Amino acid sequence: MTRQSRHDTTHSHSGESKRHDTTSSADDRMTLQDIQEVYARNAKWIDRLSWLDRCLTGRHRRCQFGRAAGRVLDVACGAGANFRYLPDSSEIVGIDISEPLVEQARAELETLGRSGTVEQMDAQNLGFADNSFETVISSFSTCTFPDPKIALREMARVCQSDGRILLLEHGLSNNPLIGRYQEWRADAHYEQSGCRLTQEPVEVVRRAGLSVEEFETAQFGRIRRITCTGGDDNQQRTSQ
Ligand SMILES: C[S@@+](CC[C@H](N)C(=O)[O-])C[C@H]1O[C@@H](n2cnc3c(N)ncnc32)[C@H](O)[C@@H]1O
Repeated sequence: MTRQSRHDTTHSHSGESKRHDTTSSADDRMTLQDIQEVYARNAKWIDRLSWLDRCLTGRHRRCQFGRAAGRVLDVACGAGANFRYLPDSSEIVGIDISEPLVEQARAELETLGRSGTVEQMDAQNLGFADNSFETVISSFSTCTFPDPKIALREMARVCQSDGRILLLEHGLSNNPLIGRYQEWRADAHYEQSGCRLTQEPVEVVRRAGLSVEEFETAQFGRIRRITCTGGDDNQQRTSQ
């Protein structure tokens, strides 16, 4: 695990294709409806392979989200893979755009015997008042949001000013072999799963105007654990 302070520079990747560059025009991006269709197709496999996901990412989910406090919003919670790693004391609220995944997430709450709520909702238009949550968490999601900047600003809006936004994301590996494979697969992967495989999440978070307090990388630089706050000028940003 490599720890970097907020003053460190992030990787910059050349050769990113248009498809997974979030600055590309809206026409190049999947729409919300496209994303819903993709996850309706994949929901069964997400459920069947949840054990594998736990093997690959469980440690990172625990490490990043085990320190969530108070009322916690899990944005794009999918099938609720993070719920088991949240402290027992936390009050869980999950949202996701995919109806089948919302159902799976509700079932996960039940299986775990945890109380909480899961709603179908767009991360880019959260139906919560400003400052509603002590902690906002999200995993492997900014790569999928049609406009991650808007979704991140929404996370900042609903997070209390003294709260934390905890993200677990993936990006381009610093291992040349893995990195090259990711770049080769990027366009096909986007078509199949609506996921920008080589997006640099720390840059996306900074571009959205959030303050990155700390980020760590793991799994050959593929995984990013990012801790951020809404940033001082959040009120101004959300009204733009
Ligand atoms: C790669 S999955 C990650 C799911 C879960 N966070 C996890 O770690 O397993 C991406 C999730 O983002 C959701 N998603 C994509 N765009 C969304 C949006 N605009 N609003 C809410 N959820 C969205 C998808 O439905 C999907 O569940």
